[in-house]
Formats: sequence, structure tokens, C-alpha cells
Amino acid sequence: MNEPPWLPEGNFAAWSRDRLALARRGADECGDVWQLEPGVYVAATAGPCEEVLHRAQDFPKPPSPLFPPLKRADGAPTSEERAHARAARMRGLRPQAVSARIGEIASGTVRFADQWPTSQDVEILPLVRSVLAEVGVRYLFSEDAPTLLPFARQLFVAREVLVRPTRWVWPGWVPTPARRFRTQQQVAFTNALRPIVRRRRSSGRLGDDVLGQMLRPSSRYGTLSEWVILDTLPGITVATFETPSRAAGWILLCLARHPRAADRIAAEAAALLPADAAATTSTHLESLQYTRALVREVLRLHPPSWLLTRRAPRRTQLADYTIDAGSTVLVCPYTAHRDAREYPEPDQFRPERWLDDSCSPAKPGVFLTFGTGPHSCEGAALAMAMLTVLTAHTAHRYHLSEPPGPEPGYRVTTFEGLATPGLQLRATVRGRGQSCLR
Ligand code: HEM
Repeated sequence: MNEPPWLPEGNFAAWSRDRLALARRGADECGDVWQLEPGVYVAATAGPCEEVLHRAQDFPKPPSPLFPPLKRADGAPTSEERAHARAARMRGLRPQAVSARIGEIASGTVRFADQWPTSQDVEILPLVRSVLAEVGVRYLFSEDAPTLLPFARQLFVAREVLVRPTRWVWPGWVPTPARRFRTQQQVAFTNALRPIVRRRRSSGRLGDDVLGQMLRPSSRYGTLSEWVILDTLPGITVATFETPSRAAGWILLCLARHPRAADRIAAEAAALLPADAAATTSTHLESLQYTRALVREVLRLHPPSWLLTRRAPRRTQLADYTIDAGSTVLVCPYTAHRDAREYPEPDQFRPERWLDDSCSPAKPGVFLTFGTGPHSCEGAALAMAMLTVLTAHTAHRYHLSEPPGPEPGYRVTTFEGLATPGLQLRATVRGRGQSCLR
């Protein structure tokens, strides 16, 4: 039996002290796949990461503990119902559907720049999250969004309380205060959504949004039951703004740290975006090539979902190694994206590597920020659209800077995603000619 190498002194204690540093050491010293503890393996480079994510039968995704289906007599959704629900959501989330609603996404996203209090240090993540929540909830529920938005915000609060690190991890069945609060918020959201689902169904006006797509019968599966719709939407609702706002934090920080790149985006936005955000089309968005390259480069260096979890219920092979039955496999986009064989000078911030016409010899490698395989991100097109527009409008309007001082005005957390809580930035309105572009 050929087991993956161990990292010397790479145990859970070292892991809890600095997970990013240990992940880097594991990839550098052990290679493609390494072992953190007995039965806990890390897929550290692109090949094994892709293999694990594509082989969903051998490495199934554990059920998300965040918003489990609410208890009911007829049990959990079947795998056929889950497939139906995903297919229906994807009709509303695929790139063509996002393109068709880009004006609406842009006019919502631009409110972030409108609302930013200028010339003072501002904690920026709550502000960006609030705006992206409006955009995301509107994308899912259109004119019913105002009813659901307050409940969606509470779902986010419940999620934050639930994932907060605690000294003691209680077994899943223990009704801790955090879990009770989560269930209360999930029930409240569901109670607000149910009459909307019933009204749309009984009126026949199903809507063209994501909820509308879930209400339409499919030729393959028929009509999706009401409770499957109600059970899947709390998680999707939070997903529309939670990870995108983490990503936006990293992007805004990079704009502050790389003023030349920010200037180039400002120039691109000035030349290519319409003055009225609602008039933005998918052609405008596609023309923002440098902005998209920057967003991608930030998401490469700081993938918000930097570590994905899979199980191995049966003994199996991964790369050249044997993986024991009952193991956990951690897939690490963070280290895969910092592999010099995939991305030359991997730690350098170089948006140009994503441009076709770049003089750089770099050919972008495997990009795992949105995962890959059967569980890859459903909202990738929506997220890229929101983040590209937000980046373009913000850089166009403001010069960003970090608060002065030796210490960064934020922490880097890795517990539930890679994030910058506490991030403070200052926006100064760009004057004419205030540009480092030469
Ligand atoms: C920058 C923003 C985002 C990032 C970095 C991101 C990242 C990811 C990643 C890495 C996965 C795969 C998880 C795994 O394989 O275990 C995933 C799954 C998922 N994402 Fe996103 N996501 C983003 C935005 C969104 C948005 C806007 C939505 C809204 C619909 C969304 C909905 C989902 C859903 C429903 C899944 C689960 C798919 C499944 O399990 O089959 N995500 N996301």
C-alpha cells in the first residue's frame, strides 16, 4: 500500500495555528497529496484536486450542515428531486440567463459606490454585503425580493453565529442555541416564501427569475414539489451574497494596494461603460477585459472557498496513492493556484496573465475558485458579473487606500472561507487627471 507522505510536525495543532502556512508547507514539501492526520488527506495541486472533485461517486460531498432540510414526515429529498432542483436553478443561473439581466445586476451593484462614505476609513465588508444581498435576492425573486430581503439578512446572521469557532464541537443532534437560532430563521424565511410560491403557482404568473424557473415543470422530471423548493432556497439565497462579498473584500484591498491596476480599470470603465448602469449590456461587460482579468487574478490568489471537503466511503486510489475507507479528503484550491508549474511566479499579482494579448509567457493554469465537476458553483456567472461591475464602477469613481500605520486594518480568517473581516478602506473621489497611468 502506497500512502501519501506525512508532513513532519504537520498535525492538527500546527494546522489550527496557521492553516494557510501549513497548506503551503505540505504542498512544497510533500507534493500532490499529503497526509495531515491519520485518515485526513490534502489534495494540494491541480491534478488531484480536479480528480477528487470530478469523481463524485468515490469522493462524495458531505451534506452541508448550514441549512439542512427542515424536518417533515415525508423525509429528505431524493437524489432525483435534488437533480431536478439543481437543473431548474441552473436555467436561471447559467451565463445566458445572467447576461439577459445584466442591466438590473449593474444598477443594483453600482449602489455600492453610491453609498460608500468618502474621505474616511470605513469598515467595508458590511456595506458590500448589504448591497450584494439586495442584488442577489432580487436576482432570485424579482419583485418579491423586498418581502424576502429582511429574512435573507437574518439567514446570514444565523450562518455567522453557526460557523463561529467554539471550544467544543457538539454532535450534530444537540440543539445548541446557534442551531436553534438557525432553525428559527430558516422557518421564518420559509414561511415568508411559501405564500409567494403559492401565489405564483395559482396565478400562473411564475416569473422569469430563478424562483420562476424552479416553478416551471420540466419535461424530464415534471413539477418540483413545494417543499423541495422551500428547502433548497435558504442556502442558495445566502450564497448569492455571502461568498461574493468575501471576494469583493479581497478585490477592494487589491485595488488599494495596486493603484496602477486600479487606474487601468478606471480608464477601461470610463471608455466602455454606459453612464446609466441600467443600460449595461453583456457586450459592455465582455469588453471590460482588464477588469475581468483583475477579478480572476484576485480570485486565483485569494479563493474565498480555499478548502473543500470530501469523504472517501470506500478504499480508493488518488494519484498514485491509496486512500483508506472512511477518510476525509481536503481539496485545496489555494495551494493549487500557487503552483509555479501552473502559474509562473504564482505569488505575484499579475492580472495580465489572464489577457489573451498579454506579452507574458504565462498560460493560466487550472482555475478552481468555483470548484469543478458535478458540484461546481451554480452561481459562478452571477458572481463574476456582480464582481466585475462592482470593481469597474468603484475604481472609476474612487481612489482607494488603506488606513495609515504598520498594522493591516483587517484579519485574515480561514475557518469558513478565506476572508478579511474588519477590512477598513478609504475612498477618495478621483479627480480629473488623478491617475498613475503613463
Ligand atoms: C465569488 C463568489 C463565489 C465563489 C468563490 C464560489 C465558490 C464555490 C465553490 C468552490 C463551490 C464548490 C463547493 C464544493 O465543491 O464543495 C461552490 C458551490 C456552490 N455555489 Fe458558489 N461561489 C460563489 C458565488 C456563488 C453564488 C453567487 C451563488 C448563487 C447561486 C452560488 C451558489 C453555489 C451553490 C448552490 C453551490 C453548491 C453546488 C453543489 O453542491 O452542487 N455561489 N461555490
